[in-house]
Amino acid sequence: MGEIYSHFAEVYQKGSYPEFSKWILGLLPSLLDKFSLPQSGKLLDLACGEGTFLEGMVLSGWQVSGLDQSSAMLRLAEERLKKTGQPFRLIHDDMRNLNFQNEFDLITCWFDSMNYLLDLTDLENVFNRVFRALKPKGGFLFDMNTLYGLFVRWQQQPMYISQEDEDLLEIHIPSCDYEKSEASLRIILFIRDPQTNQWNRWEEIHTQRAYPMNLIQATLEKAGFQVLARLGNLTEQSPALPNSGRVWFIAQKTA
Ligand SMILES: C[S@@+](CC[C@H](N)C(=O)[O-])C[C@H]1O[C@@H](n2cnc3c(N)ncnc32)[C@H](O)[C@@H]1O
Repeated sequence: MGEIYSHFAEVYQKGSYPEFSKWILGLLPSLLDKFSLPQSGKLLDLACGEGTFLEGMVLSGWQVSGLDQSSAMLRLAEERLKKTGQPFRLIHDDMRNLNFQNEFDLITCWFDSMNYLLDLTDLENVFNRVFRALKPKGGFLFDMNTLYGLFVRWQQQPMYISQEDEDLLEIHIPSCDYEKSEASLRIILFIRDPQTNQWNRWEEIHTQRAYPMNLIQATLEKAGFQVLARLGNLTEQSPALPNSGRVWFIAQKTA
């Protein structure tokens, strides 16, 4: 069993996963405008992955930094960002160690990445550190899978093929542990080596935890944030409901 997002990094980039970032990039300007959040300046994308979101933001004039714990994901982000010809900074670290003060206008964290924090104390710690890293009036935007998302949506099929082509087979097997509020995705990859033509098999287990939306909000407020919105549908900008699979938090360091 390997480290997560090692062999999966290339597969992630090749698949439809980066579409999520492209979709957010399209919606973000109107969200920032609606909630009177900074629309330019310094951005930190936590768990930036292979960098599609950062690429879009640097091309719209933001000064971008990205942080991720996966060296394989960061290598892909670096390749991608170099092609823009713009300056950027990438940090190889765990977001639980984030250590900046009054530095950023906007901090983001997309596509379930906060769900990888399996202890409430880690979530509290990251929110405190994000608060410290933001400038006053700075915005903090992120999404998380909800309890409904992990325990209903994720569990709808016992096993499915997520990607398949002549060089790749990606199989997902979900499971969950209600007592721990955790769900896991066993990702099995069969990848053909183009040099030898041989198939290799890799496996990663991705464990995520869901937190009640009220608890996430209370944790943000305890860290000092004002929660401006808790959306269930980003396109419609409508509030999160008990059966929303994903929740989008829009928070601000008002002090
Ligand atoms: C589903 S991917 C999302 C990547 C990117 N945000 C996107 O939208 O495509 C989750 C990312 O979170 C990163 N990650 C998970 N836990 C982390 C942690 N504690 N610190 C930093 N990065 C983390 C993983 O390495 C991975 O790149």
